[in-house]
Amino acid sequence: MDHPLTVFPGPASPALGSKVCAALQISPGRFVYRRFPDGETEIEVQQSVRGHDVYLLQSTGPPVEEHLMQLLLLADACRRAGAARLTAVIPYLGYARQDRRVDRRSLGARVAADVVALGRFDRLMLIDAHTPAVEGFFETPVDHLTAVPRLAGAAARVTGADGIVVAPDFGAVKLARAYAKALRLPMAFVHKTRLSGDAVEAEAVIGDVRGRRPIIVDDMLSTGGTVAAAARALRAAGAVEPISVAVTHALLVGRSRELLDELSLGRVMTTDTVAIAATDAGRLEVTSVAPLIASAIQANHREQSLASLRTPL
Ligand code: R5P
Repeated sequence: MDHPLTVFPGPASPALGSKVCAALQISPGRFVYRRFPDGETEIEVQQSVRGHDVYLLQSTGPPVEEHLMQLLLLADACRRAGAARLTAVIPYLGYARQDRRVDRRSLGARVAADVVALGRFDRLMLIDAHTPAVEGFFETPVDHLTAVPRLAGAAARVTGADGIVVAPDFGAVKLARAYAKALRLPMAFVHKTRLSGDAVEAEAVIGDVRGRRPIIVDDMLSTGGTVAAAARALRAAGAVEPISVAVTHALLVGRSRELLDELSLGRVMTTDTVAIAATDAGRLEVTSVAPLIASAIQANHREQSLASLRTPL
């Protein structure tokens, strides 16, 4: 595309956005974010974007609603200021777990997709969304990128031939298959039942994990309940230490930090799709997704294929 390239790191993703801009060798787009006494917010773009190919990089982790609104305000400001093309890069998409209707409950993923659509984006980029099917909730074209090769690369540095990739629930089986293929390891999975938002129960381990060092893989770690239940079930089934973890999105809500510390895990590998607190540096081993996002933006800007960056699931 002939139009100048501009990337705005949104208020939820300043550090990741700066890294992406550094990788692209451009300065971050300039804007100010104001909060009024009544709690309402406003965004003012402080540079010309008329005729630009604009990328707004904003994760929608907690507080999800606030981060969604910031994305929409930024999109509105850019659109009104004359951006030629607008792409939302949403490294972590909140509400994606609510992808099926249960009883008379709301369908959060569909509602979140409708909210994002209000930004009138030309294209969306997501990374390891909870399910690839979430793409179908958007009318806007989606490039679904994956951090699995990068995390598998980090895992490969310590995983031996006695490793085993473990899906902590049925939903993570396809993801585990991608890791198992990349690491050339067998896989097992845990039969999990969710009892509440932060309580899960592991009913059984399917596959022989005896004498093997597990690496639990999942799209995200939120309260840590899923990883904790899987780790305990694996120990009970005869797996050996250390048990490692690889998740794309580390939300670390509720008691997750205490749980992780109590579990005495090996390495907990993740990415920076959600901003990582400095205090978690000793707890997590972070592989940045900035090179992945920069490659995707560059390819899209040059109208080249993104096939090698897309999810293998
Ligand atoms: C669920 O289907 C997801 O893939 C994760 O397993 C889950 O959301 C992790 O949440 P938590 O850490 O709260 O158990």
